[in-house]
Amino acid sequence: MNGVAGTLAGRAVLITGATGAGIASGICRALADAGARLVVNGLTGDDVAATVARHPGAVGVVGDVSRPDDVERVVEEATAQVGPLTGLVNNAGVGLSTPFDEVDEAQFDHVVGIDLRGVWLVSRAFARQCPGPPGAIVNVSSVHARSTISGFGIYAGAKAGVEGFTRGCAVDLGPRGVRCNAIAPGYVPVDPALADRAHAVEWIDRHTRDEQPLHRLIEPIDCGWAVRFLLSEESRCITGQVLTVDAGLTARLYDGETTARTHADRAGRS
Ligand SMILES: NC(=O)c1ccc[n+]([C@@H]2O[C@H](COP(=O)([O-])OP(=O)(O)OC[C@H]3O[C@@H](n4cnc5c(N)ncnc54)[C@H](O)[C@@H]3O)[C@@H](O)[C@H]2O)c1
Repeated sequence: MNGVAGTLAGRAVLITGATGAGIASGICRALADAGARLVVNGLTGDDVAATVARHPGAVGVVGDVSRPDDVERVVEEATAQVGPLTGLVNNAGVGLSTPFDEVDEAQFDHVVGIDLRGVWLVSRAFARQCPGPPGAIVNVSSVHARSTISGFGIYAGAKAGVEGFTRGCAVDLGPRGVRCNAIAPGYVPVDPALADRAHAVEWIDRHTRDEQPLHRLIEPIDCGWAVRFLLSEESRCITGQVLTVDAGLTARLYDGETTARTHADRAGRS
């Protein structure tokens, strides 16, 4: 993209769960293109080292966002290496596809511990060291925060919590000139193994064509560009908001079949 180089120059940004080929790969690319100094967090030293190697100047910090001691150490190690952090992307997350009445306490605690409690823990550590403007947090929520499908109740609840927390965080940090927003991605295929599974490829094609008003696959970089905007000064008066990156999925009232029937009925009348 032209015109973005330097938008985040001088900013050190911690990205949690930054390893691998997921949404974080697009976030890291978009932020690096804008001149940010990347601080990449992940669960293992090997994964973190591999991500650091892809981004010149990046530093890595290993730790589990659901563990308070890890989180404190991650932020301490990060600031020791790059100075105060002025950007945070709470990307680390896990999913769960099990009807809520079949979920046990350990599964619930695992999902909520990472997807919601982890967002709070890392935001707290970030806020305590953030010097003020242009400090900004971006949380990675999901379209599931507002409407969901069978089996996703716990994940949806955690992500709805993230959006509520985003507003509360924005209110608390606003007087210090620090902002907090979220992005809510739609379906972003991130598992490279899916390409080898015919039924998965067919599901993704159908979802993209029939359920999204924009018939375009959402890629990690699409989320990265939204995060970059929310960290940059171009969004300096935006806080407590959720930017949905879903190719229109949640803007439409009815599903693809009903919408197609409506279009056909209208065509038949004219
Ligand atoms: N892919 C989608 O369709 C989609 C849609 C909406 C929202 N999201 C959200 O986007 C974020 C990234 O997910 P993704 O789809 O790229 O999946 P992913 O599995 O590729 O990425 C998640 C990352 O978080 C890391 N992680 C997990 N637990 C952690 C912990 N305790 N501490 C630190 N890191 C941890 C994983 O190692 C991984 O690198 C998640 O918050 C997810 O809920 C994904």
